[in-house]
Amino acid sequence: MISNKMQDYVKNSSAVRAMFEEGKKMAAIYGADKVYDFSLGNPNVAAPQAVKDAIMEILEEDAVEIHGYMNNSGYEDVRGRIADSINEKYHTYFNYTNIIMTVGAAGGLNVILKTLLDPKDEVIVFAPYFGEYRSYVNNYDGKLVTVSPKTTDFQPNLEEFKDKITKKTKAVIVNSPNNPTGVIYSEETIQKLSKILEDKQMEHGIQIYIISDEPYRELVYNNQKVPYLTKYYANTIVGYSYSKSLSLPGERIGYLVIPDEAEDSELLIAGANVANRILGFVNAPSLFQKVVAKCIDSKTDLSYYNRNRETLYQALVEYGYHCIKPDGAFYLFVRSPIADEKEFCEAAKEQHILVVPGSSFECPGYIRIAYCVAYETIVNALPGFKVLAQKYIES
Ligand SMILES: Cc1ncc(COP(=O)(O)O)c(C=O)c1O
Repeated sequence: MISNKMQDYVKNSSAVRAMFEEGKKMAAIYGADKVYDFSLGNPNVAAPQAVKDAIMEILEEDAVEIHGYMNNSGYEDVRGRIADSINEKYHTYFNYTNIIMTVGAAGGLNVILKTLLDPKDEVIVFAPYFGEYRSYVNNYDGKLVTVSPKTTDFQPNLEEFKDKITKKTKAVIVNSPNNPTGVIYSEETIQKLSKILEDKQMEHGIQIYIISDEPYRELVYNNQKVPYLTKYYANTIVGYSYSKSLSLPGERIGYLVIPDEAEDSELLIAGANVANRILGFVNAPSLFQKVVAKCIDSKTDLSYYNRNRETLYQALVEYGYHCIKPDGAFYLFVRSPIADEKEFCEAAKEQHILVVPGSSFECPGYIRIAYCVAYETIVNALPGFKVLAQKYIES
C-alpha cells in the first residue's frame, strides 16, 4: 500500500492537471480546434530562436562535459553570468555563490523549503495562491497558513497577515506577478510587508524568510515595475524560472538567489546545495544551464500575450463578466457569475471551454483563465463565453 500521505496527495491531486487531461480527451472526441483549453499555464509561444541556436552551438562545442555532473548548485560560469545580469538590472551585488541552479521554480521552492523547515514550522501564503504550495510545504511537514484574499484589488491582506504571524512562522511565500490573478504587488505593498516582518522578527526574536516565487517576473505589460524584493527585506530568497520567460517549462530550469545579507546565508547556501542533491534533483539540467546563460538577454514575445490579454479582457467585460485587468503573467481571474464556480466550470465544458475553479487557489467564487493559448483559441471561445454570460449574467 502507498503511504497515508501519498494517498492524500492522490485524492487531492491538482485540479489544473485533471482539467488538462480532460482537455486532451475532449480534443480526441471533438477535434483539437473545437476544444478551448485554458487550464494550464503552458506557453503557446515558441522559445526564442536564440535558444535553438544556443543548443546547437553548445552541442557542437562539447559532447562530453556538457552531459556530465557538476557542482550540485550548478556550473560556476552560468551562475556568475546570471548574478551579473541581475546586478545590472536591479543594482544588486550578487556573485556566483549566491545563485543555485534548480529544476524550475518548483524544484527551487522544494529545495528552499527542505532547507528551512522543521516539522510544524509555519509558512504563510496569500490567497489566491498557486495550489502546489500546499503540497510543497506538506512535503517537509510544515504547516501552510493562508491569508484570505482581498478581492477588491488582490493585493495581500496585510492586516490579517500581521495577525497570522507567530513564533512558528518560518517563511512567507510571495508571488508577483501573481498566478492566478496577474496582479503585481505594488512597491507600497512590499514596503509595508517588509516592515511588518522586520517588526515581528524583533518581537519574537526569530528569523522569517520571504520566498519570492517569480516565474512571471518578465511577463509584465505596459512597462509596469516589479520590485526586486531582496532590496526591501534582507531575509529574502528569490526563486526564478525560465518556464514562462523563455517558454521552456518542460526543460525544468531555474535558479534560487540567496543573498549574503540573509541571516545565516552561508548555511542557507550550503543547505540548498545539499537539498538539491538529496531530493534527487542532483543538479539542474546541464545542457539548459548553459543554454540560459547564452540566452541571458532573450525574451519571450510579450506582444503575443498582450494581444490575447486585450482581446479576452475586452470581450469578457463587454459580456458582463467582472475581473481585474492583469498587469502581468498570463492569467485572467474572473468572478464566477454563480456562487458555485465549480458548477460554472462544468457549464463551461458544455461550450468546450476548460477553465479552473478558484477553489484550486483557495479563492472560491472565481475562475482562472490561462490565456497563454493560440489567439484563435481565444477568438473561437468567445461565442461560448457569451452564451454562458447570457445564461448566467443577464438572466
Ligand atoms: C506561481 C508559480 N510558481 C511556480 C510554478 C512552477 O514553475 P516551474 O515550471 O518553473 O517549476 C508555477 C507554474 O505554473 C507557478 O505558476
